[in-house]
Amino acid sequence: MELATTGVDFRLEKVEFEGRKQTVLEFKSVEGDVAGFIVVDSLALGPATGGCRFTSYASRSDALRDAQRLARGMSFKNALAELPLGGGKSVIIRPSDNFDRDHVFEVFAKALNYLNGTYLAAEDVGTSEADMERIQQTSPFVFGLPKDGVKAGGNPSPRTAQGVFLSIMALLELNNIDPANAHIAVQGLGSVGRELCGMLLKRGSRLTVADVDDAAVRQFRSAPRVSVVDTGHIHTVTADLFAPCALGAGLNARTIPELGAKIVAGAANNQLEGPDDAFSLAKRNILYAPDFVVNAGGIINVACEYLGETEDQVERRVSAIPARLIGLIHEAHAKHITPSQVAELKANEKITAREPS
Ligand code: NAI
Repeated sequence: MELATTGVDFRLEKVEFEGRKQTVLEFKSVEGDVAGFIVVDSLALGPATGGCRFTSYASRSDALRDAQRLARGMSFKNALAELPLGGGKSVIIRPSDNFDRDHVFEVFAKALNYLNGTYLAAEDVGTSEADMERIQQTSPFVFGLPKDGVKAGGNPSPRTAQGVFLSIMALLELNNIDPANAHIAVQGLGSVGRELCGMLLKRGSRLTVADVDDAAVRQFRSAPRVSVVDTGHIHTVTADLFAPCALGAGLNARTIPELGAKIVAGAANNQLEGPDDAFSLAKRNILYAPDFVVNAGGIINVACEYLGETEDQVERRVSAIPARLIGLIHEAHAKHITPSQVAELKANEKITAREPS
């Protein structure tokens, strides 16, 4: 079957990104109203897989850089989670004017077809299960589709939240903190943050939360054991653990000196603005759980859907996240390096061992 690619202009190039080559596909509808990038970071372990982000960017180069960083993170995440997938990511630049959602995702689907299965898409910030169904009308290279019986599938966010929650429980235990007495600060109350808060409240923890979107905060304002603060202060809250569940680069030269918690573990991708930030956290004696280890639950769900596995297999793979995280922390301690360094070294080892020489 011929896969549709008409009505979209493509530019494919190989570019150097932080020491390794990436393949970048830039796509733009012929009308010029829909544009974005798909970045394939690594194919060593399988098809490049990662979510499709639909959000506003200040510039084209900001969008490209976001996709490149996210794609590299996906290579690490998929490798460490023992998934037969490479790393990739896509961004669609959200038009500022009124737009036709069906058209946006049809254009994106044609870009998937152009890559012919080297990149597989699923949900990310700004996209939903309904958007994945929109894509499926034009392209087969999409997952995160509605569930079919006991088979894995559907919106990956609840599994991401579960992996973050289990990681937080393991980190509290490691630090001898009873979850029922723990105070957790959660930044971002979207699909993952909201679900995580529900799990933490069930365990008896006390929460302080913040979100830029008033509607997201509303349901928490009157909830017992929850305080709401403004977004400029959430990272400064004196809590046992800070869980970034909004957008990336929230841990940086400005915020790290102000952090009020001694442990950081959350869902957001690319929490560190740059590699030096891992050292700044370590210098402040703050235990930073690498985001791509903690937030792998969603991509595990997507991978199991791709592999035709069941919910039980998703459960088993997500339940392995906390032990993997604690193992990395112990190894980092023994080697006097940061958990992020250990995680990246291990992921790189897995990737390079399978790269063609
Ligand atoms: P979402 O878009 O549903 O939620 C993000 C929330 O953060 C929104 O409510 C937004 O208003 C809020 N926000 C944005 N900027 C903020 C700020 N400066 N301070 C406080 N709140 C702010 O996204 P979702 O799906 O919940 O993802 C959250 C993070 O987790 C993202 O970084 C995403 O890439 C990452 N992630 C998500 C996965 C998933 O399965 N959904 C999988 C792995 C990572």
